[in-house]
Amino acid sequence: MEKLNQLREFMKANFVEWEDIESDQEKKLPQPPVEKPYDNNLEVIDLPEAKEDLVIKSSILDIINSRKSRRKYNDEELTLDELSFLLWSTQGVKKVTTNDASTAIRTVRTVPSAGARHPFETYLIINRVKGLKKGIYRYLALSHKLVLILEDDNIGEKVSEASLKQVFVGSGAVTFIWSCTPYRAEWRYHISAHKDMLLDAGHLCENLYIACEAIGLGTCAIGAYNQEEIDKLIMVDGKDEFAVYLAPVGKYDLMNSVE
Ligand SMILES: Cc1cc2nc3c(=O)[nH]c(=O)nc-3n(C[C@H](O)[C@H](O)[C@H](O)COP(=O)(O)O)c2cc1C
Repeated sequence: MEKLNQLREFMKANFVEWEDIESDQEKKLPQPPVEKPYDNNLEVIDLPEAKEDLVIKSSILDIINSRKSRRKYNDEELTLDELSFLLWSTQGVKKVTTNDASTAIRTVRTVPSAGARHPFETYLIINRVKGLKKGIYRYLALSHKLVLILEDDNIGEKVSEASLKQVFVGSGAVTFIWSCTPYRAEWRYHISAHKDMLLDAGHLCENLYIACEAIGLGTCAIGAYNQEEIDKLIMVDGKDEFAVYLAPVGKYDLMNSVE
């Protein structure tokens, strides 16, 4: 029980206790990039703008009432327009700006994030998206593009295996994997960043639920996965960057929409 009590500490807002801790921003150390750089030799794919005409359900009350976790997907492909809509809804960058009070660069996005740190990258396991090869991609939020990291015809099976054998995860047309890059938030908030980052991750996934519901797609939040295997799959080091949340997305048959 003592151990559990200790582990709970990071969930608390212990600002008084942290008063004397100086963050790297306060020490005037350089700000880390707001987006992970990518290898220019990799294939980059333009995404269309998020389109309003995809929306089939526009009543916010209706969307909130009907939102639920959907785990049965059919074999239909997603379109690039649909994928673009989901990426924009979860991490889309509306503005890059500096704060009046500091010279720190911040991105203003479609989701909130403590201090606008947005310490996430979005990886996509593409299984069935029209016009895209199967494989692992990353969303370049600043330019609203995708970068192809690795082509892989068996990527769906691999993500199912790494999701503690929750087979439905890899059966989606695409699986979102959000990684966290802690230093982007620690640079400003030091230890208090950790609680904020997990709260922020919830915003991404809830926006995914809402966006999916609005355009007739199904999704399910996934917190149960093998950390090491998922990190390996998306090729991150598991230390300065690691997966925090997953969500498969797919089309579904209305008769199957129960769960
Ligand atoms: C943080 C989090 C982690 C979750 N992890 C899983 C998971 O690993 N597997 C799964 O099938 N559902 C998972 N879920 C979905 C929940 O089981 C689901 O939200 C809950 O049963 C309520 O159902 P509803 O979303 O349809 O309202 C997760 C949900 C959240 C918010």
